[in-house]
Amino acid sequence: MTALRIRDFEIHPGYFAPDAQAQLVADLRDCLGQAPLVQPVTPRGTPMSVRMSSAGAYGWISDRKGYRYERLHPSGVPWPPIPAELLAMWQDLVPDARAPECCLINWYDATAKMGMHQDRDEADLSQPVVSVSLGDEALFRMGNATRGGKTESVWLKSGDVVVMGGEARRAYHGIDRIRPNSSTLLPKGGRINLTLRVVT
Ligand code: SIN
Ligand code: FE2
Repeated sequence: MTALRIRDFEIHPGYFAPDAQAQLVADLRDCLGQAPLVQPVTPRGTPMSVRMSSAGAYGWISDRKGYRYERLHPSGVPWPPIPAELLAMWQDLVPDARAPECCLINWYDATAKMGMHQDRDEADLSQPVVSVSLGDEALFRMGNATRGGKTESVWLKSGDVVVMGGEARRAYHGIDRIRPNSSTLLPKGGRINLTLRVVT
């Protein structure tokens, strides 16, 4: 499948075939058994609508103390290793990048969304972020390096991968809504988004 470029966002439709998606879900279940999903709150104390965990050397955390990366899950256990097929994908799509140090796992139910934001808690913004979508479709909005201005949107489907490098690395982006029951990958529905990041 050929990649599609919107601004500097590089979209790979159907990068993971259905079998590979099912394998990923199985591996993520193991990860979440070790480091369970939590419902984060923003630094102001507002609950986020997604539930989160991570794999890798670092996990991304949001709570009353702020946004940051931590070596341990809030329960005190280390984050599980990043599943091998995700490391292979990273090597395939961004071979010049440093190795990913975090795979943030976001789980969306039918009503969850993600407000427009930049990913900027990482030390080296020359390194890309690579995002994997699994389960129900999501309306992904792509903006600019500053808040506001014209945006473009695309429905991300299960198995799609987005590389955010170059200008897209600093661009605002978010998820407006989920399309419930648009995938049968997850038995109870919902969506998983994975973002692989270089943290240090
Ligand atoms: C994010 O930007 O953190 C999530 C993007 C997505 O869910 O596709
Ligand atoms: Fe993001």
